Amino acid sequence: QAIEPMYEQARQAAGRAYAPYSQFPVGAALKLKDGTMLQGCNVENASFGLCNCAERTVIFSAIAQGKLACDFDSLLIYMPGDSLYSPCGACRQVIVEFFAADALIYATCDTEQMKVWRVDALLPGVFKLP
Ligand code: THU
Repeated sequence: QAIEPMYEQARQAAGRAYAPYSQFPVGAALKLKDGTMLQGCNVENASFGLCNCAERTVIFSAIAQGKLACDFDSLLIYMPGDSLYSPCGACRQVIVEFFAADALIYATCDTEQMKVWRVDALLPGVFKLP
């Protein structure tokens, strides 16, 4: 499916990143099944452990705006530069909580490269309550 619109949304969101400590802006776009897209960015803190990744920002924001996890279609992250990165473990646990096992997660940057994962490939043996 065309991910260019998600890419644009994520790139725009990266421009709003609050990342004075890492200088590593990240943007995220969450697409709902009806095509609606939400944006997120990383938000850092002088108390480093409180830094929040772009993925969690957009997922938490979506829930807070009343979006339903069952409507979450896919997630795309964007980092400027020519390297691709992947979601951290905290974000993977949060992604598994809210996305379907076959949902797709995309990683993009400023080159044509792209990585794609199925959600169920992100965190083998993920913790879930019975
Ligand atoms: N970070 C993301 O926002 N998304 C990722 O996929 C990887 C890392 C941010 C960048 C920097 O703010 C760091 O995590 C701080 O915890």
